[in-house]
Amino acid sequence: EENAPLTGKKVVITAGPTREALDPVRYMTNHSSGKMGYSLAESFKSLGADVVLISGPVTLTPPDGVTTLGVISTEDMFQAVKSHMDADIGVFAAAVSDYTPVSFSEGKMKKTDASDNLVIELKKTPDILKYAGHNSAGMYIIGFAAETDDVREYALKKLKDKNADCIIMNDVSNPEIGMNSDDNEVTLLFRDGSEKHLKKSSKSQIARQITRELLEYDGRGR
Ligand code: C5P
Repeated sequence: EENAPLTGKKVVITAGPTREALDPVRYMTNHSSGKMGYSLAESFKSLGADVVLISGPVTLTPPDGVTTLGVISTEDMFQAVKSHMDADIGVFAAAVSDYTPVSFSEGKMKKTDASDNLVIELKKTPDILKYAGHNSAGMYIIGFAAETDDVREYALKKLKDKNADCIIMNDVSNPEIGMNSDDNEVTLLFRDGSEKHLKKSSKSQIARQITRELLEYDGRGR
């Protein structure tokens, strides 16, 4: 179809932050708003795709017609993605916590007089994008690289390590773009070495441009 080129295609999108619980009342998280992932969900939906949005805790309203699954922790998000590995396109826009506490305290952690410092041991979380990149059968994989330093170098490394088809890189050291801001400015790096810069714009505008670029890339959205 002319206006719905992704009809019959399934797109799975991760969005927002994750929360890693320390005890019943405390958790670790980050400043992700979920705006980029939600805008991409809306944009893919408007092209006719069946969209499954796997979202960490955010204050946004899920886009109409999108299947939205709310998750809390990285482990929850990982399990949700694993049950949608049949998607044609995977967009990993969540700001996943890289580490989670080694142990969860069943009771509220107490302040002690023993020391002014508290040491909390953390362990790595599962890398969801990397899992999808190495375990999917033909899913077109899009990841994000939000960095403050050596942005391009890290983005290229991610493209390779995670076996992604496209990495969308942005410099989050600029507070006007990226995490928790309304605008973004990104460069798409493709597996074949080609790239496309999208100049600063609202996240919904950037989302529309990203989906357009992906469609044009080989004409079928794959
Ligand atoms: O490795 P790094 O976290 O820098 O890579 C960022 C990309 O990987 C983003 O697309 C993010 O959604 C994804 N990611 C993930 N699972 C993780 C860590 C990152 O899906 N545990």
